[in-house]
Amino acid sequence: MVDEAMEALNVHPGGRYVDCTLGAGGHARAILERIQPEGRLLGIDADPVALETAALFLSDFKSAVVLAQSNFAELGQVCREQGFAANDGILFDLGVSSMQLDIAERGFSFQREAPLDMRFDTTSGPSAADIVNHYSEQELARILWEYGEERYSRQIAHRIVEQRPILSTLRLAHLVQQVLGSRRGRIHPATRTFMALRIAVNRELENLKVALDQSKGLLRTGGRLVVISYHSLEDRIVKQFMRAEAAEHAFSLIAKKVIRPTSTELRSNPRSRSARLRVAECLA
Ligand SMILES: C[S@@+](CC[C@H](N)C(=O)[O-])C[C@H]1O[C@@H](n2cnc3c(N)ncnc32)[C@H](O)[C@@H]1O
Repeated sequence: MVDEAMEALNVHPGGRYVDCTLGAGGHARAILERIQPEGRLLGIDADPVALETAALFLSDFKSAVVLAQSNFAELGQVCREQGFAANDGILFDLGVSSMQLDIAERGFSFQREAPLDMRFDTTSGPSAADIVNHYSEQELARILWEYGEERYSRQIAHRIVEQRPILSTLRLAHLVQQVLGSRRGRIHPATRTFMALRIAVNRELENLKVALDQSKGLLRTGGRLVVISYHSLEDRIVKQFMRAEAAEHAFSLIAKKVIRPTSTELRSNPRSRSARLRVAECLA
């Protein structure tokens, strides 16, 4: 949803923007192309590999771009350290990148054999294997139910605990498949389990709440906050945040309804099917 994001951010020459989820740098590049010659962009990602890839991809923009390996839960501190205390736009394009899904060793994919990792930041924090092998059955069931809306959360959690240690992606995927049998329709039986674990490993919902709260103090009057989410729980957090801020007259809602990908984008990029974009403008 690059075009939609650029329009929502109201990207203009000379502006200052923060991309909190740099990934391979696709959105960042689109911003940089529109803010030349005077504009500047700060790109943040927790994933050191994403940062390396984006640094190469954006190298022609030289000093117009500053990159930081950090969790966006530290947004306020990173922005102030890098001289981005007042911005024209802040972008979040949440979740996992195609690049991360495609690198088997990262452990995000239930279709490729790898250690159960799933961390965005490979340098710190517990991995999916730590959660799968050390959490209680009850806690595992809660994660699968809350974050994956997995109807068979308790049965899967029970089987996990019975079969531990589980160290690889395919072993976990196979175990889930055994529990669910042919009960699933079109999606792979392990889809919900893997998504739930990824959200838990990276504390995605907690970090999003913290970062949205910090974004308030980092926008100029008229600055835009744009969030693209891929999960109903994330979208609910964004919607509630923007509505609460609008009620306090701190933000105004630019699009009252969520923006979805066009049918052309859905054809060329099927992974965008669950994308929902929300945008608000800073009034304070
Ligand atoms: C969907 S991808 C972004 C793709 C990017 N917009 C592009 O054009 O290539 C999401 C990225 O956000 C990063 N990410 C997710 N949660 C994060 C967090 N709490 N802090 C920093 N980066 C995060 C992931 O590592 C991933 O690279």
